[in-house]
Amino acid sequence: MTKELGVGIIGCGNISTTYFKLAPLFRGIRIIACADIDPAAAEARAAEFDVTAQSIEALLANPELDIIVNLTIPEAHFPVSKAILEAGKHVYSEKPLVLSLEQGEELRATAKAKGLLVGSAPDTFLGGAHQLARAYVDQGKIGRITSGTCHVMSPGMEMWHPNPDFFFLPGGGPVLDLGPYYIANLINLIGPVKRVAALSSMANQTRTITSEPRKGEVIPVKTPTNIHALLEFQNGATITLSASWDVWAHRHGNMELYGTDGSLFVPDPNFFGGTVEASGRGKEIQPLEAWDHPFAVNNWEHPLGPIANYRTAGLADMADAILAGRDARCSLDRALHAVDVMVSILKSGEEGRFVTLTTTCTQPAALGIEEARALLR
Ligand SMILES: NC(=O)c1ccc[n+]([C@@H]2O[C@H](COP(=O)([O-])OP(=O)(O)OC[C@H]3O[C@@H](n4cnc5c(N)ncnc54)[C@H](O)[C@@H]3O)[C@@H](O)[C@H]2O)c1
Repeated sequence: MTKELGVGIIGCGNISTTYFKLAPLFRGIRIIACADIDPAAAEARAAEFDVTAQSIEALLANPELDIIVNLTIPEAHFPVSKAILEAGKHVYSEKPLVLSLEQGEELRATAKAKGLLVGSAPDTFLGGAHQLARAYVDQGKIGRITSGTCHVMSPGMEMWHPNPDFFFLPGGGPVLDLGPYYIANLINLIGPVKRVAALSSMANQTRTITSEPRKGEVIPVKTPTNIHALLEFQNGATITLSASWDVWAHRHGNMELYGTDGSLFVPDPNFFGGTVEASGRGKEIQPLEAWDHPFAVNNWEHPLGPIANYRTAGLADMADAILAGRDARCSLDRALHAVDVMVSILKSGEEGRFVTLTTTCTQPAALGIEEARALLR
């Protein structure tokens, strides 16, 4: 691929630095401008990463931009993505893509009418660990997946994020915030979901921020913070998903998948790397032999040690898909199906009944070693 697509960013908060730092690893994309509802935030990032700060209107009208990345807070995702499409640019959004199916269908219709693509994070399922798990499943090593468990549980977000309010408002909560990583990876490994059921609750009506600079401030909780869900997949597999910010400690694995011929132990889908383990019939659990996948290589300092971090891989894959006229792995169809799963889980928690999904999608194409390498500079 020789052509490079111009990329702009709307939303210059916490996660934007990751995009600015990692996008240069990838071919086919170049971040050239950024904007924020708070012009000072855009100016700060522009100075830090040597791009142009613009007003939102000027960024939307910038003829050098082909794709605009939406890194605003969840409740702004829909209006900002809609405005990007109306300005004639492709959209790549942080998760969750939107907060309702209606919003997603409106984006789909607008994108179709304008001949544009919409893509969405998470792209962590493109990581070396999750693609190794995918290859193992595709090779039939654990047989047909019939069931499994996913656990994403912690005490919350108010101890690290400087502005944690949105996590505890509608559009936040552990299912919409962290569920996308798990559901995207389940779609990667198993396929689409048929119906869901859930119980939901919240331990506290308020939370006290312990991170700086707002330490001690009390913020409201307006969405469930503890959800236990059941997912029935179209292939018949049944998965338990526990997502909670009301848990101080636990001993559950992130993701365990049980097949007719063995079990697969998948590392945290919020990250690209990690150790994948498996066992066959009557066999002990063993780590899978590591493979030479470029998105498994540690390249990032995390407070707990070095990790593989290739966020923006999904954006680079979408840019390649635009140029090649192929399906993007982090596509609107898959992101909207994940939204359907998540809002249906929350609806089931409110209404106490199974909810059958109205959307579906295909599994994304696997991203093997060569395909991943081709995305890198
Ligand atoms: N922080 C993380 O580690 C992380 C990781 C993965 C994904 N995400 C996702 O990325 C998104 C942003 O998260 P964040 O942590 O960077 O949030 P943040 O609050 O730090 O930053 C959001 C930025 O968007 C701007 N903004 C809000 N509404 C806007 C609008 N209508 N138009 C233009 N700008 C607007 C804000 O001024 C702010 O600068 C969220 O959807 C979140 O789920 C965050």
